[in-house]
Amino acid sequence: MDRGSLVERLGVADGLLSMLTDRIDASLLDRAPNLRIVANHAVGVDNIDLAACRRRGIAVGNTPDVLTDSTADLAFGLVLAASRRLQEGIEHVRSGAWGPWSPDLLLGHDVTRSTLGIVGFGRVGQAVATRALGFDMEVLYVSRNAKSDAAGRLGATRVGLDECLRRSDHVVVAVPLNEETRGLIGSEQLAAMKATANLVNIARGPVVDTEALYEALHTGQIRCAGLDVTDPEPFPADHPLALLPNCTIVPHIGSATVRTRTAMADMAVDNLIAFFAGEPMPSRIV
Ligand code: DGY
Repeated sequence: MDRGSLVERLGVADGLLSMLTDRIDASLLDRAPNLRIVANHAVGVDNIDLAACRRRGIAVGNTPDVLTDSTADLAFGLVLAASRRLQEGIEHVRSGAWGPWSPDLLLGHDVTRSTLGIVGFGRVGQAVATRALGFDMEVLYVSRNAKSDAAGRLGATRVGLDECLRRSDHVVVAVPLNEETRGLIGSEQLAAMKATANLVNIARGPVVDTEALYEALHTGQIRCAGLDVTDPEPFPADHPLALLPNCTIVPHIGSATVRTRTAMADMAVDNLIAFFAGEPMPSRIV
């Protein structure tokens, strides 16, 4: 729904099932006099002004857990795609450039037995670490809380952001977007990474500074990147970052499997139904 239709319909609505692209801010809420609940069709709620909802007594629900595995799968897909140069390989075939087999064609970097740094060790970060076990990787993680049980189970080591960036061959960003994490990975952090490193962002685009990432990839400061999320979204097809061969970008499809998107829709609807029935919501943030 475009902003105009949303504003118009919120004039009478009691509940809203919102997409992560709907900006639910104070000015929108001012025009929604009857609104009592926002059920986001996403786990991330950075599109919603939670404080403004709290002040107005509006409940907010989201869709955690059901998307953890699909999102972690895609994170690993991007780790592999970027480091093994899949996009360049596909373009090589499609363009007709494929000639005789050559020992140095499209050489990439190993995932198996490399070091994986996970920035943000919540549900998705931990699911990424679970997948790393199959690749025999050393796993480092950055987290405000120790999360010692999960770390022990997964054989992961907690380090500071700087150490994680310095030591990792692949860095997966899996933090929620908030005022603390906006711009968390900028030119200084990219400069701390290995020249052979791979940066994967499955969190939210604004956690990584787009222009700084372009510079780092373009100048060879880091080797490659895989992005499921960008800043802005949709990402302009003619942006220099989108044209780099060492940057693999997909259009925010981390949770895009039939099972997961169905489960997310069910959970968002269940949040609405429970709220209006006066029952506990399956997942309530506010
Ligand atoms: C979310 O839920 O926050 C994802 O970004 C989309 O599934």
